[in-house]
Amino acid sequence: MNVLVLHGPNLNLLGEREPSIYGTLTLTELDTKIRSRAMELGLQVRCFQSNHEGALIDELHTARKWMDALVINAGAYTHTSYAIRDAIAAVGVQAWEVHLSDILAREPWRRESRIADVCVEQIMGKGAGSYLEALERIAATQEE
Ligand code: DQA
Repeated sequence: MNVLVLHGPNLNLLGEREPSIYGTLTLTELDTKIRSRAMELGLQVRCFQSNHEGALIDELHTARKWMDALVINAGAYTHTSYAIRDAIAAVGVQAWEVHLSDILAREPWRRESRIADVCVEQIMGKGAGSYLEALERIAATQEE
């Protein structure tokens, strides 16, 4: 299975960005973990980060014929972006919403997700483990 992993705004600063919330792992280190777990699970992954809503949407469109599943940490766009929500719906892919932190245990505005209704599930609060769990769940669907 081919899996697109999308990282949204500010995730390029992982490691230096509010480490007490997001941890000390850099985005490069996170992508290395994602690639290595994907390889163990027999998944092909492409990782992409952008700070721009339109660039994330363009990437979804470009990958639509290739990908079998999407793992998306839309960052703060999670809480605001109907455009990303509609793009996920438009490409009709199996999507998993992930977050490093537990968005339900933080500020009230973070509890709202605009993309949750087009995702299979939200996986949060496990740091890099949130992404790895999404990959494991995708690989499990392959075996069904
Ligand atoms: C985040 C949570 C969002 O509320 C925040 O805006 C982010 C990161 C997370 O991974 O915990 O940028 O998606």
